[in-house]
Amino acid sequence: MTPAPQNIAAKLLPWFRRHGRHDLPWQRDPTPYRVWVSEVMLQQTQVATVIPYYERFLRRFPDAQSLASARLDEVLGLWAGLGYYARGRNLHRAAREVVARHGGRLPQTLEALIALPGIGRSTAGAILAIAHGARHPILDGNVKRVLARLFLVREPPDAAGAVLWALAGRCTPAAHVAEYTQAIMDLGATVCMRRQPACGSCPLRRDCAAHAAGLEEELPLRRKQGPRPLRRTHMVFVRSGDRVLMHRRPPQGIWGGLWAPPEFAGARAARRWCAALARDVAPRRLPALRHSFTHFELDISPWLLEVSHQRRLPAPRGERWLAADGRVGVPAPVAKLLAAGLPAGAGAKESANGEDGELRAARPRGRRPRSRAVSRGAGSAHP
Ligand code: ADE
Repeated sequence: MTPAPQNIAAKLLPWFRRHGRHDLPWQRDPTPYRVWVSEVMLQQTQVATVIPYYERFLRRFPDAQSLASARLDEVLGLWAGLGYYARGRNLHRAAREVVARHGGRLPQTLEALIALPGIGRSTAGAILAIAHGARHPILDGNVKRVLARLFLVREPPDAAGAVLWALAGRCTPAAHVAEYTQAIMDLGATVCMRRQPACGSCPLRRDCAAHAAGLEEELPLRRKQGPRPLRRTHMVFVRSGDRVLMHRRPPQGIWGGLWAPPEFAGARAARRWCAALARDVAPRRLPALRHSFTHFELDISPWLLEVSHQRRLPAPRGERWLAADGRVGVPAPVAKLLAAGLPAGAGAKESANGEDGELRAARPRGRRPRSRAVSRGAGSAHP
């Protein structure tokens, strides 16, 4: 037997009032803008990780106007360490659209929200439900898990989308939508966890078809995962005094829009580039680092090329000399390498093209992506 969807909210709401989370920063004054930023940061990232980033971001960008008029570099600087940088880029683009097309206020229909970069159906639903109390379902990872268990959804995750959306819609009540939305997410995060769910504390345990069948730990079915492919890259940190040569990565792809040192597919290419830049100094190899992405692992072989203050080189190919602490975003493993192998100095800002620039050496805080040291020689080469 599966439960009646229309009865779920009545059991969940009293539980939420006693046991739910009521003091998250985005719950204070839940304007559409504040809810939007929180929901984007919370995509693929846990609440505890998000909170300090959210508070810093909202202090600097309290509304869509301030975000829209900021430079992307500054936005990504505040995002550095949170991962999934496309979210920061999309948020910035969307803020500009909100100002240009909607008078600076987030639109209030599902369709218009989904038309903005970085807002999918679930994020749009959460904004409408939490900020406006409008009856719209959400379906993030936590909610999928709760519903798959409650209603014993056995289809593999890719096939179950339509079924789960339909269930999410039927469970969402007409009244107290904002509370219900937070409640079902809280239940997923604090009780109906992926591993070792706390069924003894669950207000829905008597309704839960997976619990009755003893299948709560098996559901939702997980996509079969093969080993993640391994890629390799060589990064050359050219340092002169307190500055490092960096370029801005293209907007698309990994680390889009962040600042990074030149990269090469192999050691020979890295050495040759170093020789062309400074013939009389040899680059030094630093300990390798492995960084995990969702879909692959990246082995980073870093090199340090020290050039003297006296012969500060012109920056080649649009690269800039940047101080190793400051305001623009660098990928988490680059920040780690800067902090570990290339002790940062303070000092005046300067760059090859005359613009000021500094790097924000962000520490990785989320669970993923993450990086760790690897022993040299392991792993296969991928261009
Ligand atoms: N995950 C996504 N949205 C959330 C929210 N509003 N509160 C807690 N976790 C969330």
